[in-house]
Amino acid sequence: MELQKFLNNYVDKAFEDSGLSSYPALLRPASKPEFGHYQINGAMGAAKSLKSNPREIAEKVVNNLSCLKDEGIVDSIEILGSGFINIFLSGSFLSQRAFECLFDERLGVKKQPKQIIPIDYPSANLAKEMHVGHLRASIIGDALNRVLRFLGHDAFSQDHVGDWGTQFGMLITYMVETEKVGQSDVALADLEAFYRNAKKRFEESEEFAQTARSYVVQLQSGDEKVLALWRRFVHVSQKHCQEVYKKLGLLVNESNLKGESSYNDDLQPTVDELVQKGIAVNSDGAKVVFLDEIKDKDGNPTAFIIQKRDGGFLYSTTDLACIRYRVRHLKADRIIYVVDVRQSLHFKELFATVRKAGFATEKTQLEHIAFGTMMGKDGKPFKTRDGNTIKLIDLLNEAVERASELVRQKNPALSNEEVTKISTAVGISSIKYADLSKNRTSDYIFNWEGMLSFEGNTAPYLQYAYTRIQSLLNKSGQSIEPNADHVILATEQDERNLLCLLLQFEDVIITVAKDCMPHYLASYLFQLASSFSKFYEKYPILKEKDEIRNSRLQIARLTGRTLKQGMDLLGLDVLDKM
Ligand code: ARG
Repeated sequence: MELQKFLNNYVDKAFEDSGLSSYPALLRPASKPEFGHYQINGAMGAAKSLKSNPREIAEKVVNNLSCLKDEGIVDSIEILGSGFINIFLSGSFLSQRAFECLFDERLGVKKQPKQIIPIDYPSANLAKEMHVGHLRASIIGDALNRVLRFLGHDAFSQDHVGDWGTQFGMLITYMVETEKVGQSDVALADLEAFYRNAKKRFEESEEFAQTARSYVVQLQSGDEKVLALWRRFVHVSQKHCQEVYKKLGLLVNESNLKGESSYNDDLQPTVDELVQKGIAVNSDGAKVVFLDEIKDKDGNPTAFIIQKRDGGFLYSTTDLACIRYRVRHLKADRIIYVVDVRQSLHFKELFATVRKAGFATEKTQLEHIAFGTMMGKDGKPFKTRDGNTIKLIDLLNEAVERASELVRQKNPALSNEEVTKISTAVGISSIKYADLSKNRTSDYIFNWEGMLSFEGNTAPYLQYAYTRIQSLLNKSGQSIEPNADHVILATEQDERNLLCLLLQFEDVIITVAKDCMPHYLASYLFQLASSFSKFYEKYPILKEKDEIRNSRLQIARLTGRTLKQGMDLLGLDVLDKM
């Protein structure tokens, strides 16, 4: 349920009835358990503006909240210090609402009015194999995709792969060269090396470079023979991507592919439309959009170049054509770009241009969901020891390998088959969670030991917490499924706190979807898992009798299902046993 919204209705009304309708009530989940379940922080601010006594204002508000008590929603409302208001929800209210969630397959989370939401991710460049730099877009994009779908939206990946541009001339030339000696298949097996060698040849041989340039021209003019070579390269590279997507468990496959090349025919018409509308102008032979709303460091309007002097198109042109497609053809209501923060200026300029041009009206939300860099322990972007980029597939394989050592240590009785299954789930989820649990806008340091630990805010911790709940239910002799005859009782404060947390699930998901911040959900799940563990340690559930035992098993079920649903929304694997 949307607990916050539910309570806000009461609290806003109480502010209004107290003559404070122009002040924000500032209702928040309590920062500490001793402050109850929710706290209202707005009385002080209102008192300050009104130059009156904050305590008196708080008392007025509390009086006007008496209906919460009358309706049995709260046990008590207290005023603390200089006017903080603390709300303690009642056991009966919490139990009843939790009981409803337990029997709802969506755990009380409603579907929202459906929006069409293309999400631009993973969008790697196909000239090289996917490397660690592509990890964040993949993981964050996928979590958002899952959350938005769960909320009822038509969300899907648009994989804007970099499969076009001058580098492909160089790659095709090298492909032809290796083909001549019957080695192209071998060379293509390692795309990283292929790219390096091609680049070396490009730099050392003028003849090679010239051929490469002529291939670019032929490619762009649609020469079938050159296109066939390009297709062969792109196909190999795409296969690598699909392998990585599968390993990562992404909701992305070939059907989401909509690479840069697919907009080739729209580029000139897009530029023409902008020129016609007077938005792009000629500047030294190039076509440029000057943006008054974004100033450069000298205070001049920035120049967004959309066509080069030689007629060539740029990254910007493709993105303009792409937005047109997403709005006009896909009918997007909201477009999300999960792309490195270093491209912020590009997206600012792009969105400003698009608004001016009317390619997207105010009705379409355009969002650059920026993320920071994954760093090595040395505080520099994560690389191999000899300074090379790390292939994503290698990183994922290493994660599984490291996890398998851990899993074996923890449970030596497992069969090889079980170890493989569990370590794949643990390894991949650990990498994902290490990323998703941090605020996406900051850089973070990649650390194997930290992410693979069973303690702390990690995927293995959450996975283990879930299996413990399953084994508790198994040991109870009752079914894993909820029992309609067993009421939930919340006699202890610890129980009420846990139930309140469980009822905040929908609020958290809605905020994640709104702000595109998966770490809110990660923090929530960690808090939920640790609160339940503490609860379980303090109250040995299986030793209790009858009603209390049954009630606590119901709470365990709801906790398990909420954990599972939440982990699923982050793209983490959930295991019954580990
Ligand atoms: N391929 C680009 C890169 O690797 C990211 C593309 C992001 N999406 C977009 N529509 N510009 O940097």
